[in-house]
Amino acid sequence: MKLAIVGAGKMGGAVLEGALNKKIVSKKEVGIYHPNLKRRDELSKHYGVISIDESGIDKSDYVLIAVKPQYFSDVAPLIAKRGGSYISLMAGVSAKAIAKRLGSKRIVRAMPNMGARIGLSATALAYLPQATKEDINMAEKLFSSVGTVYHLSEDLFDPFTGLAGSGPAFAAIVAEAMADGGVRVGFNRKTANELARQVLLATAKLLETSDPALLKNEVASAGGTAISGVKALEKNGLRIAMIEAIEAASNRAAELSQED
Ligand SMILES: NC(=O)c1ccc[n+]([C@@H]2O[C@H](COP(=O)([O-])OP(=O)(O)OC[C@H]3O[C@@H](n4cnc5c(N)ncnc54)[C@H](OP(=O)(O)O)[C@@H]3O)[C@@H](O)[C@H]2O)c1
Repeated sequence: MKLAIVGAGKMGGAVLEGALNKKIVSKKEVGIYHPNLKRRDELSKHYGVISIDESGIDKSDYVLIAVKPQYFSDVAPLIAKRGGSYISLMAGVSAKAIAKRLGSKRIVRAMPNMGARIGLSATALAYLPQATKEDINMAEKLFSSVGTVYHLSEDLFDPFTGLAGSGPAFAAIVAEAMADGGVRVGFNRKTANELARQVLLATAKLLETSDPALLKNEVASAGGTAISGVKALEKNGLRIAMIEAIEAASNRAAELSQED
């Protein structure tokens, strides 16, 4: 078995689907473990991969730990027996804490975001010095299959969680607020939602080749409509609200990591 997945839920499942689609692993090379036999079979059938028990985990080259952090203490004794390489995507559990529980220092830690569901995750990757080139390579391939990978030092994981992990919620609020504005000026909700989404989609695409400030300046011409709106946004503190949101989310991620 090349890859055992412990926790094939929303995020573990998204990474599995990406890896299968991009042929990083084949269905025969992946096993899903779940303590409940019925659930284990259900999940493996859903993804078309193998249902494995504890001995299957022992025989796998890589273990992807994708359970909720509060369940890590349940699975740790079970997966620790094999030693070797582990890839974790649990939020708030440091690579060192994982190594301590598992008795292996070949730990790669990843922090994906919701974009993984559509192949557009921003994923941070960090590893202990004992992780081998092959370990890092495997993690990079897995997470590249669901988006873009950023190699970061682990002390940037909490800030990364504040910006990239929590960011989809902030962007969704911006989309909702834009649609509210649209409704206020006369569109029905459906059209307003669609227009807000289309604007954000096009802006994200344009930002691939433009700096945000330059793009804003391009739209906001002298004495025009956009600069009037920009003035209203500045007056109402959108910019400082967003800075503080990311700071608060980053601080909260640090607090949760401390609880480990
Ligand atoms: N969702 C995100 O946006 C996101 C982003 C970054 C990181 N993460 C991290 O991803 C991890 C999973 O989050 P999620 O949102 O994917 O949660 P989730 O959908 O609840 O997935 C967790 C999965 O683990 C299974 N499970 C529970 N106990 C288990 C055990 N002892 N052995 C094996 N499998 C077990 C659950 O089974 P059941 O289906 O039976 O409950 C579920 O399928 C978390 O550590 C989280 O911090 C999530």
